[in-house]
Amino acid sequence: MCGIIGVTGVAEPLAVLLAGLRALEYRGYDSAGVALVETGGSELWRLRAAERGRSIDKLASEVVAAPLDVGAAIGHTRWATHGAPTEENAHPHLDCSGRVAVVHNGIIENHRELAAQLAAAGHRFSSATDTEVVAHLVEEERGAGAPLAEALRRCLPRLRGDFALALVDAGSPETIVAARRTAPLVVGRSDTGAVVASDIAAALATTRNLFLLDEDQVAELTPGAIRLIDAAGAECSPRPLAVSWDVAAAQKDGHPDFMAKEMAEQPLALRETLLGRLEASGATELEELGLDGPVLKAFRRVVLVACGSSYHACLSGRNALESLAGVAAEVDIASEFRYRDAVLGPDTLVVAVSQSGETLDTLHAQREAKRRGATTLALSNVVDSVMAREADAVLYTRAGPEIGVASTKCHLAQRAMLGVLALHVARARGALSDDATRRHAADLLGLPDAVSDVLARAEDHAAVAARHAAVRDVYFLGRRDGFSVAAEGALKLKELAYVRAEAYPAAEMKHGPISLIEPGALVVAVATRSGLWEKVMANIAEMRARGATVVAVATDGDAETAAVADDVLLVPETGPLAAPIVEIVPLQRFAYEIARARGNDVDRPRNLAKVVTVE
Ligand code: AGP
Repeated sequence: MCGIIGVTGVAEPLAVLLAGLRALEYRGYDSAGVALVETGGSELWRLRAAERGRSIDKLASEVVAAPLDVGAAIGHTRWATHGAPTEENAHPHLDCSGRVAVVHNGIIENHRELAAQLAAAGHRFSSATDTEVVAHLVEEERGAGAPLAEALRRCLPRLRGDFALALVDAGSPETIVAARRTAPLVVGRSDTGAVVASDIAAALATTRNLFLLDEDQVAELTPGAIRLIDAAGAECSPRPLAVSWDVAAAQKDGHPDFMAKEMAEQPLALRETLLGRLEASGATELEELGLDGPVLKAFRRVVLVACGSSYHACLSGRNALESLAGVAAEVDIASEFRYRDAVLGPDTLVVAVSQSGETLDTLHAQREAKRRGATTLALSNVVDSVMAREADAVLYTRAGPEIGVASTKCHLAQRAMLGVLALHVARARGALSDDATRRHAADLLGLPDAVSDVLARAEDHAAVAARHAAVRDVYFLGRRDGFSVAAEGALKLKELAYVRAEAYPAAEMKHGPISLIEPGALVVAVATRSGLWEKVMANIAEMRARGATVVAVATDGDAETAAVADDVLLVPETGPLAAPIVEIVPLQRFAYEIARARGNDVDRPRNLAKVVTVE
């Protein structure tokens, strides 16, 4: 999972490239690099840096040595998969002649086999990456006389795996060629320039006139023009991409980091996601879904699949579908679902939940569900994401771009969207009384205000976090929806603060993990009045009896819970659909503050990338 950017025919191409790389850095920050073709001299110039998190700054300080007259230029920000995060393995990679440069996101699964064939034909490799084979394959085709786009087209059938690629060649100073399979890539053109990028935000500085690439199509970008050829070599027309985001939406807006900005944007993300889809009467409007009432009524089972935070959203989504709509629902981790020979058929709706819409595990789970005859619904935040395009039906959260690696506003928006979906299915199945429908609608519609209320308590919640900043092991406990909150709280603490944190359904502790509890252990319990409060209180007592310190997420005014906890993270009382969404907010703050107190980079936690496009 890396970021790709390429431009041709633009003023100040290096500045555009570096800005694009900064916008893409969330996709990986192990190293960065650029390759430029000099217009007059037909020379290829390359610069790379592998200084984790500082590589783009290093490039910026060294590009003064770049040629002045630049035609096509490509850049890359890397999350290492094959080959250590060193400068030798940083992209762009070159062919033997040093005239072809390639940047790549994804994995070429058969790279060893290809490298062996190429080496036998005399090619010399200078990196440990899977990517470099592409430069040498293109070199072969160029040597056989193929123009650059045709050379790439001929190489694609030899590549196995998922990838997005962009290449330049010193012999075609103003041309970039690009192709994708599964991994995302958009292309765009202005009057005088053209751009290729892994995501919309990085392309917007050049143009809003963007297009989608279908799998195995090859795009040839020249100043002001895009030419597309399909896998058979026939010319085809690019599909326009509607762009609603602007460049400013991808900036920090004065917040210390993207995570802070994105947490602050949560009420807006919820408002936008609910807008026009749910009325106070409980009426739902999901025409975009394209699955009408009788179809929704006919499903006998819903299976939700996702990874990480999106999986936690699904835990509550399952509960809502079962309790509101009375439909059998289950949830699975996408990477497990894919390989477990799930028994599916036309009576099953598989909902694949993914912020990015390109997480490979979830994408493959969705494909597997389709292959097994289920109807697939993608719930994504990225419009026209790969999953959105491949699913039978799509719902979008409208949280705007999320740059911080830790999911915050998108996670809340996913939960809200699943709540609306549960209500929608419940209505289609006639499973809820009008009264109950109105109550749940009011609960969801109150979310933007309730979450604003919790955000306004940031100082109180930060003070609790400060008291536990030195913690080493934490157990997050909750029951039913509270467990989904606990799981998300633990993931946030792990990924941001690098603290060992485990989440358990609270009652499960006594089946083993309780032996880990000793004086000094920290337990964070989701103990609001919305859930199985009495049961959780009993579980808290079990922890306290063994010497644990307890931080409780509790409902405003709940003196009883406050009395048994060492610290409380208070939230306002809401109904059951909104409760988990509101309860997560103080746990985001808890993890954020502890991470910052430890000097961690919250936007770019170690070893992680925003979008996981490897298995
Ligand atoms: C969340 O904070 C994580 N960064 C991660 O677990 C994420 O939710 C997961 O990788 C799934 O991503 P997706 O929603 O884009 O599919």
